[in-house]
Amino acid sequence: MLYDAVASRIAGRLYRRVVADLGVIGLSHDALIVDVGTGPGRLPILIADAFRGIRVEGIDLSEEMITRARQLADAAQTADASRVSFTVADVADPPHLRGSVDVVVSTASMHHWPDAAAGISEIARILRPGGQAVIYDPWASLNSAVAPAKEAGLTARTQGIGFGIARLTLFSPA
Ligand SMILES: C[S@@+](CC[C@H](N)C(=O)[O-])C[C@H]1O[C@@H](n2cnc3c(N)ncnc32)[C@H](O)[C@@H]1O
Repeated sequence: MLYDAVASRIAGRLYRRVVADLGVIGLSHDALIVDVGTGPGRLPILIADAFRGIRVEGIDLSEEMITRARQLADAAQTADASRVSFTVADVADPPHLRGSVDVVVSTASMHHWPDAAAGISEIARILRPGGQAVIYDPWASLNSAVAPAKEAGLTARTQGIGFGIARLTLFSPA
């Protein structure tokens, strides 16, 4: 109970931070954002509410999480529910076409990926030229992703943001 209260408070702060960070990226009006390891999908709903017109797709390996995310999205009655969708998918094998995604976000998921390098390589594949991935996780897992990101042709920048979390921003060449 106490854990839930603390966890949801930290997650709430993190999600607000992600939305603020997306605000400075300069999203196009019809951008597609993919939230990798979306869990119960709270972040995509917040993002869709914060930015009119953009589309947000949460992907997760777990069917159970995606079912829960769809239920929460229905209950949240987002202004335009068609802009939020959820798909069961592994970050190492996402169904998206090469260069079809404007921004990838991910919170507290990368340290679960069995093959972070494969996930990073796929993120590089699906990002459009000039697209960005913004990944929030503990330092250790983010640091392990820097070399694979460079190998995949991405520029990587890591920065601590507090509460034990750092942000890895990956820039795809334009
Ligand atoms: C700790 S939860 C974080 C959920 C959510 N992003 C949040 O911040 O509340 C980690 C999520 O990553 C998902 N995940 C783990 N490995 C994955 C993979 N290879 N591809 C996609 N999702 C994965 C898990 O199923 C889980 O829902």
